[in-house]
Amino acid sequence: MSNKIQTLGGYIHEYSKSIQNPEEFWSRVADSFHWHQRWDNVVEWDFVGPDVKWFTNSKLNITENLLERHLFVLGNKPAIIWEPNDPEEAVRTITYRQLYEMVCQFANTMKAQGIQKGDRVIIYMPMVPEAAVAMLACARIGAVHSVVFAGFSATSLADRINDCEAKMVLTSDGNFRGNKKIPVKAVVDEALENTNTIEKVIVLHRTGDEVTMKEGRDVWWHEAIEGVSAVNEAEVMDSEDMLFILYTSGSTGKPKGVVHTCGGYMVYTYYTFQYVFQYSPVDVYWCTADVGWITGHSYIVYGPLLAGATTIMFEGVPTFPEAGRFWAICEKHKVNQFYTAPTAIRALQAYGTEPIQPHDLSSLKVIGSVGEPINEEAWHWYHDHVGKGRCPIVDTWWQTETGGIMVSPIAGVTPTKPSYATLPLPGIQLAILDNDGNELKGNSVEGNLCVKFPWPSMLRTTYGDHERCRQTYFSSFKGYYFTGDGVKRDEDGYYRILGRVDDVINVSGHRMGTAEVENAINEHPKVVESAVVGYPHDIKGQGIYAYVICDMEGRSEENLIQEIRETVNKIIGPIAKPDKVQIVPGLPKTRSGKIMRRILRKIASADTGNMGDTSTLLNPEVVDQIMEGAR
Ligand code: WT7
Repeated sequence: MSNKIQTLGGYIHEYSKSIQNPEEFWSRVADSFHWHQRWDNVVEWDFVGPDVKWFTNSKLNITENLLERHLFVLGNKPAIIWEPNDPEEAVRTITYRQLYEMVCQFANTMKAQGIQKGDRVIIYMPMVPEAAVAMLACARIGAVHSVVFAGFSATSLADRINDCEAKMVLTSDGNFRGNKKIPVKAVVDEALENTNTIEKVIVLHRTGDEVTMKEGRDVWWHEAIEGVSAVNEAEVMDSEDMLFILYTSGSTGKPKGVVHTCGGYMVYTYYTFQYVFQYSPVDVYWCTADVGWITGHSYIVYGPLLAGATTIMFEGVPTFPEAGRFWAICEKHKVNQFYTAPTAIRALQAYGTEPIQPHDLSSLKVIGSVGEPINEEAWHWYHDHVGKGRCPIVDTWWQTETGGIMVSPIAGVTPTKPSYATLPLPGIQLAILDNDGNELKGNSVEGNLCVKFPWPSMLRTTYGDHERCRQTYFSSFKGYYFTGDGVKRDEDGYYRILGRVDDVINVSGHRMGTAEVENAINEHPKVVESAVVGYPHDIKGQGIYAYVICDMEGRSEENLIQEIRETVNKIIGPIAKPDKVQIVPGLPKTRSGKIMRRILRKIASADTGNMGDTSTLLNPEVVDQIMEGAR
């Protein structure tokens, strides 16, 4: 199937078809694939339970659709081009045939190490092709992968292992990141002191640093695969069998395991990848995300490979060895579609255009943005200096829970508008609701962004706790999936995402629950109570601001602040470290004891002109004290 359309009219036509007859629309896309057994119904759903099923009773294996399906025509085409952290190290190019063999061999290896269909496997790895091989080998044998971003702490890793009762961890000795080497195996060892379900750890040799290998538990990757057959028959999966779990933060408690299933995820990531980026078979596509996040799952690994694309995997960071690295890679591999995050754009913008100048970016056709709202200034810089004014920017709005892109321009086809994600993709039925649950019809409206009809790659549940899934996404507005984002639909019907309306903040495109950070801060023995809010940050989008009540006895404020930041680093990881910590005498509370975050957000943003009515607070005097301290 080709997703090429030429005009806005083409999009409108495609969109209306998808809404008038979703079954027919999605079965047409699904027909591109190899199914062992066709579905009974395209979709069965209710948003109350919730209970959503796509392609019911159909049978497939997603890896046959991204490997075997391509071998005949694309066997020698590069599937993955790997660009190492150090530009002096050799690039690795892995063809579809080679990838097929690597996946089959590792699938057999995992089986030999005791993994069966349905078992959970944690992937805690650097950005190397073996990380993709690991994901696909799991999918091949029906094991459920859960990739944990390798920047998370031992505590965070242990929490995830325990929540899904994983049997195996796939990791490396260490990771290269810029000029640093990160001893990840040591983090795994520490995590495993607090877990009891892991039977085997397979360790990829990457940095060559010394690690401790626990007898009977730990095996080297290269030793484990030695002599293992590269012939493997894929496990036949039900469309609704679990494909993977990915943990993400919410407004309460610990991160939850978002569950995606085989059939719907395959169909949607494939469709949206081709459609949004208008990928052509000879193109080289690069998404700079990490496989630890949903963007890496859907738009480095699954979507592009399902489409038979060449996808680049980059191990390093944007500023190593210098700030022109992204552009050097684009030039070196003649990248056609480039997909990154606003935080990276803003960080590079700070170096000016000089690092871009020496590089030939004429291969670029489409540039994309994902993860957080892109401010107009960054949008224009990206458009003018990277896209040279000729590449459409696809500002793609979506979430871990949606599995794939939901709102975005179609490259070169539908209009772009700075800071707007613009229009819903075919099949996506959005609704804007006011706080009382009324759907706001027509244009020039603003409210809570919801979805009122299922799409194939939506989350099915939160692992081990379906009630939490119902509560979080399906209870605020009855009969709707609630995204947690605020949105505006302008006078022309274009959507602009306004950011989270719940207690979730977006730090450098990474989702953080304020409650999660507070819980980490509260682990410090001198902390009495804390409240965390986001505030505008030039590069990160939002920074983390923590107000903390402490028992100061015998401590200097400076040391305490340092210790608090370290506590968060230790419990969650460096991405959650508060940018600012303010020791306060109290927190503004309502008479029922609820912290007034609205006030704290205003102070954190230095927007104290109009604080609203504070007289009904339990402790109004504390507001002035906090403002005083903030100065
Ligand atoms: C939240 C989801 C989607 C993959 C990466 C993040 C924000 C995401 C955009 C965008 C404005 C965006 C939303 C969303 N977000 N993309 N293009 N414009 N905001 O996935 O960690 O699940 O976070 O990121 O607030 O709810 P995630």
